[in-house]
Amino acid sequence: MDRPAFSNPSPAGPRGVRTRSTRRRGVAAALAAAGAISLALSGCGTSASPSAGPTAQAVDPASAKGASGSLSICGGRDSVGLYKGTVDAFMKANPGITAKYIVLGATTDDARTQAVQRLQAKSGECDLFLTDVTWTPEFASQGWLQDMTKVTDAVKGTLIPSTVATTQYKGKSWATPYYTNAGLLYYAKDKVAKPETWKQVYAEAAKAPGNGLVYQAKQYEGLTVNFLELLYSAGGDVIDGQGNVKIDSPETRKVLDFMASGVKNGSADRAVLTYEENSTRLAYESGKYGYERNWPNVYGQLNATPLKGTFGVAPLPSFDGSSKGSGVLGGWNLAISAFSSNPGAAVAFVNFESSPEWQKHVAMDYSQAPAGEAAYSDPEVLAKMPFAQELLVSVKGAKPRPVSPVYAQISEAINKNVHAVLAGDSSTEDAVKKMAEQIKAAQASF
Ligand code: GLC
Repeated sequence: MDRPAFSNPSPAGPRGVRTRSTRRRGVAAALAAAGAISLALSGCGTSASPSAGPTAQAVDPASAKGASGSLSICGGRDSVGLYKGTVDAFMKANPGITAKYIVLGATTDDARTQAVQRLQAKSGECDLFLTDVTWTPEFASQGWLQDMTKVTDAVKGTLIPSTVATTQYKGKSWATPYYTNAGLLYYAKDKVAKPETWKQVYAEAAKAPGNGLVYQAKQYEGLTVNFLELLYSAGGDVIDGQGNVKIDSPETRKVLDFMASGVKNGSADRAVLTYEENSTRLAYESGKYGYERNWPNVYGQLNATPLKGTFGVAPLPSFDGSSKGSGVLGGWNLAISAFSSNPGAAVAFVNFESSPEWQKHVAMDYSQAPAGEAAYSDPEVLAKMPFAQELLVSVKGAKPRPVSPVYAQISEAINKNVHAVLAGDSSTEDAVKKMAEQIKAAQASF
């Protein structure tokens, strides 16, 4: 079968300052280094100890007025052109500011590694960072961001509350929402049934070679999300509200066994072990699959292929019908770097992207899920995105990932061990024990 080009499941490139073989020591060293950097920061009010909570320079909303000069926005791959599109529309509306978008990496992991490298070096290259919703506690606690509470408070009445929550850490907002995200299942209407439960999806997918499911099971953040979607739907959890690790559970074992047998029996093609979002999309576009788990942006992209009209789009189902379906809350925010020399222009950009008017374009022109709530019931949006109302339900029902300054390490503990089980390199039992142990070690390191 023809396959799109895949990236290596074990990236050889830099993974922050950690090493695989000395993971525990690596995490401690990384945090010590980051702590030392945070101590060394001057002029941006960084707290002496990360755990004491961040205090930082607060952005003045009035600084946007008459802002001029250049502005760099840095983030991940611009898969549907939203970032460039926002920059162009912003410059039209603000002729005194020259803005540009700088791509930091293909996946969220790559983008985070590159953002962290710049921030550790106190680089002023990026005024604004496009930050994944899980990064806020880490970036804020390291003193890498300016306090955006006043800017975000000014627009928060128009935004979906869960999106605002992802910008907050220790009572302040460190970013402003750009767009939100919730996983969806795309399915080939002529081949497979509408998704009702994950069990049914996997059973349908195994029935015929053209029915298979494609999803993101490369070892990276996307796999954490794909695994948690099933775990949350099966009633499991990672960490409870008190910070207790809950992942060593019957639900985790059940979901891992289920996903691993799906790879073995052909419900999911083994190639998923190398797929991130884009390769998943390309695989489904080959027409050789029945189901695709991906984000809302794929709706617009699929409609531009010969598969237009052949697929349905459904919210993520429950695991087996005994508990309700639940997605994982995704999305991206915009955060002003502590090292930006043009925060006024950055605020102007944030005001532009978070306005109800631009939030409509986020959905209409780019098929992304707006953070602004009114867009979902706007007739122009509904014409372009007929499932907007269902998407809003999915977004509102989506559960956040663990909130922690060491989220990256927690996530790696999950995706590394889940990947090993799916690849047939680890037993479920070993993986569950290791996940719990490594998550506790990550928590203890902060
Ligand atoms: C999407 C989501 C983001 C998530 C990532 C995982 O970009 O918006 O929150 O972390 O996918 O690959």
